[in-house]
Amino acid sequence: MSDLKVSGRSGLKGVISVPGDKSISHRAIILGSLASGTTRVHGFLESADCLNTIKAFRMMGVDIKRLAAGEIEITGAGLSGLKEPADIIDVGNSGTAIRLISGVLAGQPFYSVITGDESVRNRPMKRIVEPLKDMGALVHGRAGGDRAPLTILGGELWTIDHKSPVASAQVKSAVLLAGLFADGRTTVTEPAISRNHTELMLKAFGADVKTEVTAVSVAGRPRLEAREISVPGDVSSAACWLAAALIVPNSEITVKNVGINPTRTGILDVLESMGADISVENIRGDAGEPAADITARASGLKGTEISGDMVPRLIDEIPIIAVAAAKASDDTVISGAGELRLKETDRIAAVAAELTKFGVSIEETTDGMIIHGGSGLTGTECSSHGDHRIAMSLSIAALAAQGETVIRDAGWIETSYPQFAQTLNFLCGS
Ligand code: S3P
Repeated sequence: MSDLKVSGRSGLKGVISVPGDKSISHRAIILGSLASGTTRVHGFLESADCLNTIKAFRMMGVDIKRLAAGEIEITGAGLSGLKEPADIIDVGNSGTAIRLISGVLAGQPFYSVITGDESVRNRPMKRIVEPLKDMGALVHGRAGGDRAPLTILGGELWTIDHKSPVASAQVKSAVLLAGLFADGRTTVTEPAISRNHTELMLKAFGADVKTEVTAVSVAGRPRLEAREISVPGDVSSAACWLAAALIVPNSEITVKNVGINPTRTGILDVLESMGADISVENIRGDAGEPAADITARASGLKGTEISGDMVPRLIDEIPIIAVAAAKASDDTVISGAGELRLKETDRIAAVAAELTKFGVSIEETTDGMIIHGGSGLTGTECSSHGDHRIAMSLSIAALAAQGETVIRDAGWIETSYPQFAQTLNFLCGS
């Protein structure tokens, strides 16, 4: 995988847009494939992860066409129209793809095997395997069913009332998607609300979905009707540029058309609590997924505390928050984020190891980290740990550091943001 060289800068200025939301793009392919009729997706994220979801549904006989950049047309197979794949489904690096697609496979009267790259094969699967088995699917995997490859023989399912021990949109979505193939209502209750894109999109396709505080239920065997989907820009990608504008002196960056679903905007709340100068304008939206233009200007930041129900609202943004916190005047304490150890890499260990190389004083805790602000950053040689969000966060740290930084294995950025380096060059005026 390629390396990325980034030098310390000042005065990053520009109006940019970021590619489509990764979570929404996966779900558009999944529901478009299960719907009746033709679904058009605008602003689809053509990154490695989401292209793997397209590949998976093509293997199950769904006709999915790329009309132009970010424009996808899906001829839905209907709820019972998927075909047995002739080979192993490989989702690459995508935890979302393996968990959500497994939910769909649990409802299919055929045999399938699903796997991913080394990172995916090391991630816990019991969290979805157990509820899918409770619904009646036959699911096996390595490590007693906790690791991919998973083999799934599905069919008619029973409804369940699943109490998830973790706030995880992937678990919630896997069970709700399986619930489409059961008679009656399937319910998932989580300890705190995770991103709700599956619920919103199911509703938009015509399913009967009910939400009560942290419980979501769906009625099985709906007729899903194809529709147009406009995918807003990914707030997780935008977060990099907002943080860059805040910590690189004399900067001002506007990111247009960013998704601001409240289950995802913990990053904005936290940055504001740190004293960030951020404005959110032109709020608009479709199918419950609001979008806005967001501007951030260089700001003196102070430390903050992040814990509890806030964590699922910014789980993917903790690496970039740690970078911003390194430039704050005092300490930032993050707790209740043990899930970070189970992502594409152990993100607590990776953030601590790599920011230390920049000269940041940072302590790992079992479920979070303490970042001691106030230290200057010095350019260094660092590693992505094979994780797109670590690579992007380190690139932003490099912009705020003195001298040059080399980020090894930065090619992983392709999994969620293929145009990242291009936008970086644009903002740097090169
Ligand atoms: C996602 C859910 C989150 C998040 C991931 C995308 C989704 O994972 O970290 O990047 O699209 O459902 P968990 O469900 O494991 O928290």
